Order: sequence, then C-alpha cells, then structure tokens
Amino acid sequence: QPGLGELARASGVTFGAAVQGGLLRQDADYAVAFAREAAIVVPEYEGKWGTLQPQEGRFNSAALDTILAWGRRAGRPVRGHALIWHQDMPDWTRQALAEGPDRAGAVMAAHIGTILEHTQPQIRDWDVVNEVVADPPGSDTPQASGELRDTPWLRALGPSYIETALKLAREADPTLRLTLNEYGIEEDTPAAAEKRRRLLALVRDLVGRKVPLDAVGLQAHLQLVKPFNPAVLSGFIKELQALGLAVLITEMDIREGGEVPQDIAARDALVAERAYAFVSTAVGAGVRTVLTWGLSDKYSWLATDPDVAMPDKRPHRGLPLDAEWKRKPMWDALARAL
Ligand code: XIL
Repeated sequence: QPGLGELARASGVTFGAAVQGGLLRQDADYAVAFAREAAIVVPEYEGKWGTLQPQEGRFNSAALDTILAWGRRAGRPVRGHALIWHQDMPDWTRQALAEGPDRAGAVMAAHIGTILEHTQPQIRDWDVVNEVVADPPGSDTPQASGELRDTPWLRALGPSYIETALKLAREADPTLRLTLNEYGIEEDTPAAAEKRRRLLALVRDLVGRKVPLDAVGLQAHLQLVKPFNPAVLSGFIKELQALGLAVLITEMDIREGGEVPQDIAARDALVAERAYAFVSTAVGAGVRTVLTWGLSDKYSWLATDPDVAMPDKRPHRGLPLDAEWKRKPMWDALARAL
C-alpha cells in the first residue's frame, strides 16, 4: 500500500513529518519509514538555534546538512524550523540580548542572515517565529503578563522583534515562505479561544501594516482530554486565509490523558477518531500541508519529554506508526482524511 505522502498527493495535499538526521543514519527502519510515508520533512531540532549557533559566530550546520542531503537524494522538500524561539537559546544569546536592543538586533540579523543564506534555495518555507503568543489563563502553562510571550527577545526589542525577524527573513531570501508557528489554538477550550483571538490580532496587525508574512503554522499537539469542535477550527482557519495567509498543520501528534484505557485497541481507536476529525476538518478548510511530529511512537517526544508524559508513565500512541513501525489506526485515519 502506498504511503501517506503519496496518498495525500493525489488530493493535492503534502503530508510529511519531523525527522531527526541522526536516526536517518542509525536506524534503517527509520529511514525506510520516512522514505515510504513522508513527502516533506522538517528537522525536529537541527534547525534550532542551539544546534546552528551554539557559540556566537560559530555556525554549525552539519546536523541540518544531513537532512538537507537526504532531502536532495530522496527528492523531498525540507521545511525550516525554527529561527526565533524562546527555547533552545544558548546562554550566550541570553547574555547578549540582555546587553540591549542594538546588540540584540545585531545577533538576530546575523543568525537569520547566515542561516537563510545557507539554506536557500533548498528550504522554501521557514518557521521564522515560533510560539510568540502568550498562553492565557486556563492554559496548561499560563503566562502572567501580556498577549505576547515574555521572552528574551521581547525584553530586548519589544513587540517589534516579530516584524524585525520577518523583515530580515524576507530580505535574506525574498521568495521564502515566511511562517509564524503557534500551539494551543486548535481545540475548543476557553484558553484556546483566547489564544486564537491573540494570534488573530497579532497577524491582523502585521498584515495590515504590510509586514512580510505568508503563512501561519498550527502545531496541533492535540490532547484527547480537550474537546474538539470542527466548526471552530475551520472558522479560524478561514479567518487566517481571509487575510491572505496560507495555513499549515506543522507538528501534529495526539496526547492521551485522564482515564486512559488499558486496552491498546481502545486507545488507538480514540486517537484515530480524533486524528480523522482534525485532519479532515483542516483539509476541508483548505489546508494543503500536514506534518506530524515524527512518524513512529518509538522516537516521539511524547515518549521522552517529561513535560508531556502520561501520569502513569505509559507510552503515548500519538503518531501514525507504532514503536515496531506498524501502521496503526491513526495511519488509516490519516489515509482517509488526507
Ligand atoms: C521539541 C522536540 O520534539 C524535542 O525533542 C525537544 O527536546 C524540544 O522540542 N513545539 C515546537 C517543537 O515548536 O520545536 C518542539 O519540539 C515541540 C513543541
């Protein structure tokens, strides 16, 4: 049976997944799965600041280059993630940014300019800014103040750091698709509604002032404990599209929580049901790019990251392939939805 990438292509949708370059080399099953299922890849960490510029001026693209080389060999586009993000900032950046706006602006310009010069023309789509909207009250991790997340960038440069980053990216690579990527907006909770409002206000302002911005990425780290409402999601996607923006699903996976059944088949059925509802709604609303955050439960951050672990430490089953690379009901759900 063809992979998800091929199935999706038939309906004009690009399906792909986040990849780790090291695993492409170390684990033959991993490489086979990506070649079979993914029509596009995004580096899970190799495009982040800590990997690309661990020390000031010492750019190191070796890890990213592994993925770019795989993409060229396999004929798969690679999207970029993430130029400006409050996580994975090496200590030197925090210190430099604290030295004031001139220094912060120079550090930002050097990073964006150097990386985009290196990744063009191969990478045609980058998450220029990632997770810039603050989590409202009622979120899993609420932030105290303001609609924008309190980050070293915001402190150093004020709210204009977002447009500065976008303008730098446009200058460095004029035909690049510039994406603003965000999480916590897909579900039907009061906190997500407020985050949608904040995101929409932000991008409306940017678009209204002709700041270069082409797309919004919805990460879609979904949670079964949160209600999903197709009308709410498709309404929001359409509001973004009405501003002239493309909407992408960039990091989908599905986290279980609460009373998780012991029975694997019951768990997989619930995950598959949500996957189908979510992806068919997004595609129905005009989304043309869908990526999951990995392909197999074996290497999912849901399995390794303590912040997202299940209370009883059971492994999540939130990706289309299980830890033995077998296609799960979520795979079938995506195959039907894409
Ligand atoms: C995660 C990776 O999957 C982890 O391996 C890493 O330790 C932390 O970052 N939103 C994002 C991604 O934009 O970059 C995050 O990736 C997951 C949440």
